[in-house]
This record gives sequence, C-alpha cells and structure tokens, in this order.
Amino acid sequence: MEYKLHLGAKTHTPSQLIVHSAFCKKKNDKETSLVLSGWDKDCKDAFYNLKNSDIFKATVGDTFYFSLKDGTTVLALGLGEKSKLNSETVRKEYAKLYKSIKGKYTDVSIQLDTFTGSKVKAEDSLYLLVEAFGLASYNFDNYLSKKQEAKLKKVHVDTASKSKKLNALIDKANNIVESVNVARDFVNEPPNVLNSVSYAKMVEKDVKGLKRVKTKILGKPELKKEKMGMFLSVNAASAHDPRLVHLTYTPKKVTKNTKHVILVGKGLTFDTGGYSLKPGGSMMNMKFDMAGSATVYGAFRAAVLNDSPIKITCLLGMTDNAVNEHATMPDSIVTARNGKTVEILNTDAEGRLVLGDVLSYASDLKPDVIIDAATLTGAVLIALGTEVCGVMGNDQKLCDELVKTAKETDEYAWQLPIIDQWRDDMKSNIADLKNIGGSRWAGSAKAAAFLENFVGKDISWAHLDIAGCGDSQSHLPYCPPKGASGTMIRTLVNYLMKK
Ligand code: BES
Ligand code: ZN
Ligand code: ZN
Repeated sequence: MEYKLHLGAKTHTPSQLIVHSAFCKKKNDKETSLVLSGWDKDCKDAFYNLKNSDIFKATVGDTFYFSLKDGTTVLALGLGEKSKLNSETVRKEYAKLYKSIKGKYTDVSIQLDTFTGSKVKAEDSLYLLVEAFGLASYNFDNYLSKKQEAKLKKVHVDTASKSKKLNALIDKANNIVESVNVARDFVNEPPNVLNSVSYAKMVEKDVKGLKRVKTKILGKPELKKEKMGMFLSVNAASAHDPRLVHLTYTPKKVTKNTKHVILVGKGLTFDTGGYSLKPGGSMMNMKFDMAGSATVYGAFRAAVLNDSPIKITCLLGMTDNAVNEHATMPDSIVTARNGKTVEILNTDAEGRLVLGDVLSYASDLKPDVIIDAATLTGAVLIALGTEVCGVMGNDQKLCDELVKTAKETDEYAWQLPIIDQWRDDMKSNIADLKNIGGSRWAGSAKAAAFLENFVGKDISWAHLDIAGCGDSQSHLPYCPPKGASGTMIRTLVNYLMKK
C-alpha cells in the first residue's frame, strides 16, 4: 500500500473515494445531530442537499455514500460521539472500511482534519489508519492457485497540518504492520514446509533486512554442548535437527544504563504430543505451536526497524514434537541445562521443556528482563477464553507493566498468579521436578511455576501464554477470522520502545 501525505492541503486530493469522518452529538443536544466539522464545503453542501441525508446518524459503524457534482464518491464514516471516541474504535472502523472498499476503488483520500476536537488526535488517527489498513489487508494466499489482489493501491491523506513528523508516523506504523504480517506468514505456513531447519533459514533470510542485528544459529551439536537435555528430549523423534536462533540487536547509543531485554519464543513447528499422543481433533492446527516464536520475532523485528533505544536479544527454540521409536517415553528423567532433573510424565507438555532450557541459556546472558511467549497450555483458554493473553511471572512490576502496555495498545492481557502450592505441585518424588502437575487445575500457572525454575536469580521474567489469542481472532476486523492473529506483537513492540 502506498500512502501519500498531502501536508498543508486546502481540500481533498482528487481520488475515486473521499472519506470524511462524521460524529454525532449527544442526544439531548438541540443543535444538529451531526458534527461535520473539518469537512470540505462542497461535501457539506452536497450532503445537506440530499433528501435522505437525515437517515445517517453517524453512530459507530454507520456509513453513508453520496456523490459530488463532479461524480466523485464521498463516504461519511460514522464514528459516534467525538468525546467518546477511542483508538480501538478507529482501528476497527478503518479495518472494516478497508475490507469494504479494497475490491472497488484504486485510490482513496482520507481527510485527517475531520478528527480535530475528538478524543483521538488527528495524528494518532493517521497511525491507526496505517495500522488498520495494513493489518486488515493480510491474506495468506501462498498456496492458492488463484490469488485475489486488492484493487486499492494508493491512500492519500489530506491535512492542513504542515508537521513533517506525520511521515515518520506512517513509517513507524508500517514497520509494525509489516512485522506482524511476517509473523502471521510464519505461523500459517504448513508443517511440511516450515520445520525447525527451514524456519531458522527463513528467519535468517528475513533478518538480513535489519540493521545492527547479529545472528547465531545453534544446531544439535551446539545444543548437546550446552547440555540442553530437556530441549533435546523433545526433538528425539524428529526428522529435523533442532534450532536455537539467537539474534542480538544493539541500539545506536549504548551506555552502562542501557536496558537489556531478552525475548524467548516457543517454536514447536508441530506438536503431535509425542507418545502422549494428542487425539486427532486436538492435533489439528498444531502447526500453530510455534506462534510464540513468531510473536517475539515479529516484535523484535518491528522494534529494530523503529530504532528501539534498548538492547534486545531474541531467542527462538525450534523443533517439532514427533513420535517414533526414538521418541522420549513418558516416565523418562532428563537433565536440564541448569542441572535440574525432570521427570517427563506427559510428552505433550513439551513447550516448557524447550523453553526451560532456553530460559536458562538466556539467564546466562545476564539481561535485566526476560519475556517469553508461548502457545503453552490449553488451560489458558479455560481460564481466560480465546481472546485474552495470560501473563505470569516472578516480578509484579514487570507483569503490571505488560498488562498496562497491552491495555494502552488495545490488546487483552490478564495476569494469573503463581502460588507456592503450585510450585510444590511441580516437584517430583524421584527427580527435582516433573513436567505436569498432579491435577489439571491451574494448568497455565503450573506451567509457569515450572518455567520459573530455569530463570536466573534476580532476573525479572514474564511469561505470555498466547494459546488462546494467537489465532482465529474473528471478533477483530483487523485480524483474519481464521489462522494466525499476530496479537501481542504490538504490545511487545510498545514495551520495547520504552527506555
Ligand atoms: N501446544 C500445547 C498447548 C495448546 C493447546 C496450544 C491447545 C493451543 C491449543 C501444549 O504443548 C500442550 O499440549 N499442553 C498440554 C499440557 C498438559 C499435558 C499438561 C495441554 O494444555 O493439554
Ligand atoms: Zn504439547
Ligand atoms: Zn505444544
């Protein structure tokens, strides 16, 4: 999509469709029920000359198309009351707008100044426009013989403002959108194409476009050397060697106070459950078990492109969880990288085994903060539904910060506690730990209680369980109804852009 900003514009740039935001006033207001401030005079006149213009109330989702004398189509985009407008409404309405016009018009002019005086500033609405159009335009069509290309190619943005900073806003939003869509592509790739080896190569190729990033890829011999007994036990039956992708971003300016954040992602390219085999229905869509790694990679990518001021390391633990005669048997005891022994009672609780070793590796790099993202438990869907990301961790401040950042980003995240009883429940009689709890209750937090054992002392750590929100967010018009959602990437980027 090409965005063309017309700074200092006096009227709309000629295009096939002119979009004006329209607002309604409060019901008890005696004046006209519509707020059309910021509209061009000819549009206002044309609108009022229409006999049926009074059927348009400008409530959220209410749209009205009409024509100017010269044949141009104008759309009045209802956004409700100016004083009640919020960013998610703008994002959703722009996403719906994109979907309804993408197949009809080649170019569109958006009138930014119609937002003046509303709760969402005009410049913020520009950012939301780019976000919404970019996220809504995503379509996984790699394997479709007939691809449907959108007609809409050019978006003109008209504003009387002369602020050069608006162009930078477009770039910033575009970097995030592009990174979310790269992550969505990884998740949607089928497991016969995307395996640990090919996935690592795809990331390596994509990273080439990023500045100030170093790449290191660890394979089986290196993981053996690192004594990652848990990670390797998951890979035991795989046709593909495991990969640990290690990316390091160094910001332009580094001082001794520069914060170092490590992102860790679960990259299970397919989860059959292993010997603790999943039933057929539950195994379907388990290609999506690498969504945690795609999420942190997407966030890392966008933060790098947007010149994050902090040092960021990104660690992606990649393997599938397969089953053959080499597969790890339930009851096996393995030794983790940090020396703890773990009784594997259920080979389907494999994500925590991979993450545990990667968290220990991350801890040795002595960061200030570690955040992992994983499609870790089905239990998070029971606790928080399919829309909310579970947040857990060892540092209340960090958990608060992430929940707050999610709220600021219009994403849903909620914290679950880790209590001592659940920590105890993860202890085994014959090894230091076991990989499942004694009951299914509080399954997400028990998984987090397990992970906590592999995080170094004094390191702030938070765990994001995205098993629910990682895909099929059909309630969000800027997410595809099925397949990878890319949620929580924007939250992580916003977190990574703060000092
Ligand atoms: N990848 C799954 C978690 C999952 C389940 C993600 C459903 C998305 C949708 C994970 O590896 C797993 O199988 N977890 C088990 C843990 C259990 C054996 C303690 C689960 O949630 O059932
Ligand atoms: Zn599993
Ligand atoms: Zn899994």
